[in-house]
Amino acid sequence: MTVAEHRIHEVTGTGLGPWLDGLGELRIRVFREYPYLYDGSLEYERAYLITYQEARGALVVLVTDAEDKLVAATTCVPLSEAGAEFREPFDRAGIDVSKVLYLGESVALPEWRGKGFGQLFFDLREAHARRLGLKMTAFCAVDRPPDHPMRPTGYRPLDGFWESRGYERRPELRAVLHWKEAGEADDTPKDLTFWLRSWTR
Ligand SMILES: CC(C)(COP(=O)(O)OP(=O)(O)OC[C@H]1O[C@@H](n2cnc3c(N)ncnc32)[C@H](O)[C@@H]1OP(=O)(O)O)[C@@H](O)C(=O)NCCC(=O)NCCS
Repeated sequence: MTVAEHRIHEVTGTGLGPWLDGLGELRIRVFREYPYLYDGSLEYERAYLITYQEARGALVVLVTDAEDKLVAATTCVPLSEAGAEFREPFDRAGIDVSKVLYLGESVALPEWRGKGFGQLFFDLREAHARRLGLKMTAFCAVDRPPDHPMRPTGYRPLDGFWESRGYERRPELRAVLHWKEAGEADDTPKDLTFWLRSWTR
């Protein structure tokens, strides 16, 4: 596979500052698509992404193209430093949040997909979990019914990819997040389910 010229940046702490708006814009663009249908704003993005700048254990991986444009990114943060809406499902299930690395989003512009960045993003975040001595990695994905009216023809869910990476969907670990969908006047609640992988080494 030939992959166009690019650079990988692993960013932590205040190093994220110059990238915050670009990362917010990338998230808005990618999550506008099904299944997220997120009608985002940079204001919301800045408030959300500041967690990754302030958390001591967070890591953000960015991919830029030959013109230094941001084309893909992924984030992770120790669950203990993530927002309450992410921690609470684990507290309720009796899972020690201090042992979990929360994997935030992975986003790539459509023309940069299928080139191995999704795999690389898991590799780098799982290596980060090992460096921090964390025994579990987890992320959540929005729940949509199979007959959702906005589901594109031929849509292929990422479930098979996630399973191939050793993740298990855990229906008892559910979060409710709020965002505005295209066509909605205000934020509405969305159900998300966590996927979890435990590390024995
Ligand atoms: C998640 C995302 C970054 C993955 O990037 P990617 O460039 O497709 O990742 P890769 O090229 O490493 O492919 C990952 C694997 O998934 C498979 N895959 C690729 N596109 C897929 C799709 N649409 N559906 C299902 N599997 C897919 C690939 O075959 C590959 O498996 P393989 O390595 O065994 O061949 C990208 O799909 C994306 O931006 N999606 C939209 C945002 C999103 O839903 N993010 C996830 C939740 S935060």
